[in-house]
Amino acid sequence: MANRGKTFLSGIQPTGLLHLGNYFGAMRQHLASQDEEGEHFYFIADLHSLTTSRDPDELRTNVLECAVSYLAFGLDPERVALFRQSDVPEVTELAWLLACVTGMGLLERAHSYKDKVAHGVKPNVGLFTYPILMAADILAYDAEIVPVGKDQQQHVEMAQDMGASFNHLFGEHAPGGEVFVRPEGRQPPGELFARVPGLDGEKMSKSYGNTLWIFEQGKRLKKAVGRITTDSRAPEEPKDPDELLLFDFLALFLDAADLAEWKDRVRKGGEGAPGYGHLKVRLIEAIDAAFAPARARREELLADRAEVERALERGAVVARERARATLDRAYRACGIR
Ligand code: ADP
Ligand code: TRP
Repeated sequence: MANRGKTFLSGIQPTGLLHLGNYFGAMRQHLASQDEEGEHFYFIADLHSLTTSRDPDELRTNVLECAVSYLAFGLDPERVALFRQSDVPEVTELAWLLACVTGMGLLERAHSYKDKVAHGVKPNVGLFTYPILMAADILAYDAEIVPVGKDQQQHVEMAQDMGASFNHLFGEHAPGGEVFVRPEGRQPPGELFARVPGLDGEKMSKSYGNTLWIFEQGKRLKKAVGRITTDSRAPEEPKDPDELLLFDFLALFLDAADLAEWKDRVRKGGEGAPGYGHLKVRLIEAIDAAFAPARARREELLADRAEVERALERGAVVARERARATLDRAYRACGIR
């Protein structure tokens, strides 16, 4: 394969509107990686959403919102191929080839599948084979670095296993002895970003109804921040800030010096110490300051959907070309063609 720097790839499932957990745990890393030298593929995993989505209008809206979110936060479609998973049908073909070399046991060990079933989700076959489609997503583009949240790391490892099985079985019939490149997952830096808490202190997740949408603002933002769990202690009472959920949220947005100062005031307590209401006001200001430019950009993009569509179409052309080449290599290696 030609030397073209590292290949970065990630996907995000458009099952709901993106929340702070998705932003700090995944999207921010995706955006940061576009500045690293190499090729960049980022896609909206609409086919994965179909494992649970049953409302076509909602899915369409979520796909649009997801694309708009990435563009609004600064994804540059000139440098990054941003596309819809379903615009590259080669990936679903590749998923079949991988399914044929994947043991049932590998899928049965998937934490994410087991968690969902434990939470009462009635699984369909698509949900069970979800990691195979995800492996096809990764392997189709020769991805080397896959920035994902902690909960997706196991899926990346499964993609390594599937790629290695295929290479082991058929690699000798491929140029250079390999059909697929080995991908590596890349985790967000720091515990807080790997597991952003929700408004109730559990992991933030759309399945738990404890999320804060990245574009929330005004009264609705105030209401959401108001839901962050606190207790009934008075402002004057000295408290350990590291035990307060509110400080996890503040830590996402304040710079180190500012955060240290607020923590100090809470630790000391006494007259003039900030109460929870005060801290929440500071948090809202910080969210507004951090996200205001992206909010404005989102409004512009929603008013010019043709621009969004053009970016997605351009991304799909680049992505399809790469996926086609990989699929042809895989077909030839296993004896089809
Ligand atoms: P949800 O849990 O809301 O269904 P997804 O499973 O669709 O979110 O996750 C999309 C991406 O965002 C994944 O890469 C995941 O690791 C990341 N992510 C989701 N929730 C969090 C969180 N609370 N903290 C950090 N990263 C998260
Ligand atoms: N499963 C990922 C999520 O829930 C989305 C995804 C699909 C993905 N295919 C991928 C992530 C390939 C990285 C690489 O967010």
